[in-house]
Amino acid sequence: MSIGGDLVLSVRNLDVKFYTYAGVVHAVSNVSFDVYKGEIVALVGETGCGKSVTTRAITRLIDPPGRIEGGKAYFRRRNGEVVDLLSLSDEEIRDIRGNEIAYVFQDPTSALDPLYTIGHHFYETMIDHRKIDKKNAIQHAVNLLKETFIPSPESRVKNYPHELSGGMRQRSVIAIGLSNNPVLLIADEPTTNLDVTIQAQILELIKDLQAKHGMSVILITHNLGVVAEVAHRVYVMYAGKIVEEAPVEELFENPQHPYTRLLLRTVPDPTKKIEKLESIPGTVPSLINPLPGCRFRDRCPFASEKCLEEPPMVEVGKAHRVYCWLHTVKG
Ligand SMILES: Nc1ncnc2c1ncn2[C@@H]1O[C@H](COP(=O)(O)OP(=O)(O)O)[C@@H](O)[C@H]1O
Ligand SMILES: [Mg+2]
Repeated sequence: MSIGGDLVLSVRNLDVKFYTYAGVVHAVSNVSFDVYKGEIVALVGETGCGKSVTTRAITRLIDPPGRIEGGKAYFRRRNGEVVDLLSLSDEEIRDIRGNEIAYVFQDPTSALDPLYTIGHHFYETMIDHRKIDKKNAIQHAVNLLKETFIPSPESRVKNYPHELSGGMRQRSVIAIGLSNNPVLLIADEPTTNLDVTIQAQILELIKDLQAKHGMSVILITHNLGVVAEVAHRVYVMYAGKIVEEAPVEELFENPQHPYTRLLLRTVPDPTKKIEKLESIPGTVPSLINPLPGCRFRDRCPFASEKCLEEPPMVEVGKAHRVYCWLHTVKG
């Protein structure tokens, strides 16, 4: 199995469905994306577009009635070996999860067990993957909490989750995620439940830690402001599919997919006195038995007959690709 030497993760044609009583929800359709060493990649799109299902699938956290129906997720392990995460045994994936791939969820409360101290959470995460005694684990925890700017970490390790503020809890969860020095950190809407100042601090923290530890990060968000702040490269998702990918400056300066353009118009412009927040007309289509072709076509001002067919991937610039028929008519 081989992927480019500078890649940490290469996902190809990922397909995930949920078999519900209401019908088959095609949550993720033919999604492909790459994560290079030491970069922060954002997956952005409206709520329900398949961001979490995508990353849960590659870490094998999809429960029934969900099923991974196809695709590959090549991951370069710490020792250099490349594996397909989707075809590993349960035991092999458990060895990677929490160790080489850390997952930070939206809600820090659910990631922490109220019955155990913060220090114990570190110990549990570390002991799962290596031989370490409790004293050394706690010392490592104190150092990591210090790195995440938690004041008086020596006493914080003895605290229970409810004794910490929401922002501190999320910092602790990130610190726990780093305890085995992961190759890849997945942060799923890590700031959504926090107030604005704390959000900015957590994002700054993720950026600093990425630079310091050199790991790769997948940052999931529905907020383009967050993307602009933190990401190096962006994948825009719509209704279970990727519609555009580009380096972050390129995406903001030169968006090509009609959906991305509309999405960018919904970002408040801080330089203007009166904020004009436009919403995109129409609603996200149901993912139950979706029709083939472009899923944005009902909301797209430029839709044509062509859009009933699957849109092709078009290279529109360096590392800039768009899945749209509009870009095929030039030549
Ligand atoms: N357990 C489930 N059962 C049925 N449908 C689900 C389940 N989990 C997710 N979905 C559906 O998959 C789609 C993508 O969800 P998700 O990845 O959570 O969106 P996002 O993270 O972008 O907000 C949504 O339509 C959602 O309703
Ligand atoms: Mg989500």
